[in-house]
Amino acid sequence: QELTYFDATDSTQFTAHKLAQEGATEGHVVIANEQTAGKGRLGRDWYSRKGTSVSISMILRPDLPPQKTPQLTLLTAVAVVRAIKNIVGIECDIKWPNDILLKGKKLVGILTEMQADPDRVHSIIIGIGINVNQRSDDFDPSIRDLATSLAIEKGKTVERAQVISAVLNEFEHLYDLYLNEGFTPIRSLWEVYSISVGTYIYARTMREVIYGYAKGITNDGVLLLEDEKGQEHKIYSADIEIA
Ligand code: BTN
Repeated sequence: QELTYFDATDSTQFTAHKLAQEGATEGHVVIANEQTAGKGRLGRDWYSRKGTSVSISMILRPDLPPQKTPQLTLLTAVAVVRAIKNIVGIECDIKWPNDILLKGKKLVGILTEMQADPDRVHSIIIGIGINVNQRSDDFDPSIRDLATSLAIEKGKTVERAQVISAVLNEFEHLYDLYLNEGFTPIRSLWEVYSISVGTYIYARTMREVIYGYAKGITNDGVLLLEDEKGQEHKIYSADIEIA
């Protein structure tokens, strides 16, 4: 497995895209000690200052149709939750599709992107950002009340290298399971850690806000929401708020 490490880079995600275009192989991992222009979902910034967070981007080349890539986002969330439980004994929750929350505050962000044709994926780049050693005032004021870190929860510094290796190990294990047995076992695990299924939620999509009962996820990782009129909605992309 190849690894590209930076003390500082703009974004591991940009680097991974570049490496993928240049032919990097499955499992190539990009890690940075600091990102100066980390990016989040929906064009947002992702803060990852020196020495405080874990920033990983992984290049995968599964033989999958593009519409199956959300499965890998869900798989990644499960891998990170399990790694954190193993390493620091903290249990966190998954909020669909890819936020990992600790006591309602954001601990981990996952960003999945792909280079693909309509019928075939060339590469999938999965970015994982974990807040490890930030103190509350290390967070930008705009997110201070919404974010947390492992160190805030534990009351002490956590070894980032351990977090990285646990995440990569757990990911590799689940990815093997996925390639051998498909999404079903991953989906069951995901539902165990999820707080956004079996409850009422607001789903804020690009066009509207839909309120309803989250019934579950499909095998494609789509969230099924039943609104108050009993109509079912398939949610492909949205911000979720637990009602
Ligand atoms: C989110 O908006 O919740 C997703 C955040 C993803 C952050 C990670 S950190 C590693 C990788 N590099 C980036 O620039 N972003 C992702």
